[in-house]
Amino acid sequence: MKAIEIADGVYRVAANIGSKDLFEGIWPIPDGVSINSYLVKGEKTALIDIVKDWDNALEQVNEQLADAGSSVESIDYLILNHMEPDHTGWLSELKAKNPDVKIYCSKKSVPLIKAFYKIEDNVFPVGSGDSLDLGGGKILTFEDAPNVHWPETMVTFETSTGVLFSCDAFGAFGQVTEHVFDDQLTEDEVVFHENETRRYYSNIVSTFSGFVLKAIDKLSGLDIKVVAPSHGVIYRKNPGKIIEHYRRLASYHNGPAEKEITFIWSSMYGNTEKLVEPIIKAVEEEGVKINVHRVPQEHVSFVLSDAWKSAGLIFGMPTYEYRMFPPMSYVLDIFDRSHVKFRKIFRFGSFGWSGGAQKQFQEMTEGLKWECIEPVEWQGSADEETVARAVEQAKMLAREIKSL
Ligand code: FEO
Repeated sequence: MKAIEIADGVYRVAANIGSKDLFEGIWPIPDGVSINSYLVKGEKTALIDIVKDWDNALEQVNEQLADAGSSVESIDYLILNHMEPDHTGWLSELKAKNPDVKIYCSKKSVPLIKAFYKIEDNVFPVGSGDSLDLGGGKILTFEDAPNVHWPETMVTFETSTGVLFSCDAFGAFGQVTEHVFDDQLTEDEVVFHENETRRYYSNIVSTFSGFVLKAIDKLSGLDIKVVAPSHGVIYRKNPGKIIEHYRRLASYHNGPAEKEITFIWSSMYGNTEKLVEPIIKAVEEEGVKINVHRVPQEHVSFVLSDAWKSAGLIFGMPTYEYRMFPPMSYVLDIFDRSHVKFRKIFRFGSFGWSGGAQKQFQEMTEGLKWECIEPVEWQGSADEETVARAVEQAKMLAREIKSL
């Protein structure tokens, strides 16, 4: 595999990870994920972010380092923007092969390097405004970007080429194979990467949206010519596009999001399911886009990706032993962790010998500041009047979303 020169003396050395594992042990990656490192060659050489021993990643990166005329043993500086192990898992092995390498990282990374890898020597903490001159015109500057994604995160900027090494910021799921740059993507690939950017954002970063907005404002002073994230494609034709995409995604944490509804439903014996088609039809008749997910059949990763962009949410779920249907509790827990706030909501569902789902639903979502219209619940099988009532509520929600 060849290293790709993304700017004068700056190379992408990346690994494509396959689809069989879960990212962070939680999130499915049916189309894989890329982990990008970058080599900057001045008179001295710096490697920015690394990979972990995952699905042949080390072999891929070593091969590309060699292609760029470098090696783990010969780099002078290792820049660690972020300590999560997808970008640092290789550290102990790398350090064993190159004990003199100078590690540059944020101040908050120092104890994490010790905790994860027991490394304390040749570690140099830096912060906003600090720089490292590699010689040959290559100067790296550093900017703290706390909580994008962990508290210790920083970004690195190369001043002569205008390349921003943004680590998780502006990243995406999905492998990057033949087309590495934004200007090479086909229309289908553009859609693919936009969807995988939103899924990555909602799954990994959304909790920290306020910090993302602060970081974007902070970076506005830089003359960014290339955005080089640690996951996903590189933006050289229109770096502003991915920055604005992230700004828009981050803005959804305060609502309103896009004028569409995500409908999440579960059913045990078909009594809640009976209303699914009428509800979908009702929303569509109002001219509002509806994204439909059944849980637990669909993974919450995909549910969250649609919910994050939707101003309205509809939940259909039965009561299960005095509480919510358990897979829906998990969805709501993830929504709570991910800060899916300030949405407009309608909930419906059946119960058997006792209700209870609605009470738990209200308790679990209290902190999310949702605006809920009157729910519809019924015992046993829904009669025509109940179906009509739920349909009318769904239409009312759709009209509210349309009028935003
Ligand atoms: Fe790609 Fe937060 O690590």
